[in-house]
Amino acid sequence: MADPRSCRTIAWAGGLDGAVEMIDQTLLPGELKILTCRDIETLWEAIRSLRVRGAPAIGVAAAMGVVLGVRNSRNRDEFFENLAKSCDFLAASRPTAVNLFWALKRMKRRAEGLRDAGLEQLKSALLAEARTIRDEDAAICRAIGEAGQHLIAEGSTVLTHCNAGGLATAEYGTALAVMYAAHDRGRRFAVYADETRPLLQGARLTAWELAQAGLDVTVICDNMVAHVMRDRKVDLVVVGADRIAANGDTANKIGTYGVAVIASAHGIPFYVAAPRSTFDHSIPDGKAIPIEERAREEIAKGFGVTTVPEGVRCYNPAFDVTPAGLITGIITERGLVSPVSSDGIAGLLRDRTCQP
Ligand code: MRU
Repeated sequence: MADPRSCRTIAWAGGLDGAVEMIDQTLLPGELKILTCRDIETLWEAIRSLRVRGAPAIGVAAAMGVVLGVRNSRNRDEFFENLAKSCDFLAASRPTAVNLFWALKRMKRRAEGLRDAGLEQLKSALLAEARTIRDEDAAICRAIGEAGQHLIAEGSTVLTHCNAGGLATAEYGTALAVMYAAHDRGRRFAVYADETRPLLQGARLTAWELAQAGLDVTVICDNMVAHVMRDRKVDLVVVGADRIAANGDTANKIGTYGVAVIASAHGIPFYVAAPRSTFDHSIPDGKAIPIEERAREEIAKGFGVTTVPEGVRCYNPAFDVTPAGLITGIITERGLVSPVSSDGIAGLLRDRTCQP
């Protein structure tokens, strides 16, 4: 198959009467199937069920979902009514990744900036904006890779958690972009991919992507991290992010915080790679980041097998927050913020080009 670094995780096919096409990630690694979404309800379900997932990719999905929600409007009033409804609806799909809300805000702002435009112009402008968000994300991911590739030395070993690759973005990834860029320079290194319970994004998606791209990847269960860090060589950790507070506290897939604590105990540098659209400067620290709680079945009946007795409760937070103090640096499309501080982050965000 095509190199997954540039495979189309999500794209808009055709003109205004077209559709959103995405890889159905729930089927990987067994099956590579494209799901076509022609209405906002199908797209909402795709976000909710993690057919499309990863913070930047769901931002792109939300932007395209808005187009699905407004394209049948019959007049300007109906357009703005549908715009508001679509944004509220999509905002309720998943709560943690701020990229989704960032993209919705950007789509709204684009339409509101065109108050005097005709109906067809409004619709076309939103389709163009959604496509731009996708294309910008692809370019941003390349830049993140360039900004972080020097951290991976020849012969080193990197550990990552969840999937922050091409599948989690428009293409190429954030944490995995750093690895792809180092690999493209001919550097040889090994990667440990945590399996990432309960939905196994590390085993199913990261291992799939890296293996397809020819990188040396080994999957470990989440509870093996401490053992592997102590008994085998791990030189650095690179993970993605779903929301970064003003002080650098970072929400990412559940288990990331534990990896950071273990890395710190072993003196291993811990990096976060993320675009500036993942920063939420409206919240001072990680305590205010909403953490999604998902269904019991994901733990108790993962992939159809009952592993918890009927009637026993499960607690299933999908994300955790790693305190800024455990993060060695944040790799962005504008370079590295290290050490991680409110001032360093504020400087990065001051440039208005990242504001929706
Ligand atoms: O629940 P998911 O699969 O959407 O969670 C994804 C993650 O936590 C990723 O690490 C994060 O979104 C960064 S993606 C570049």
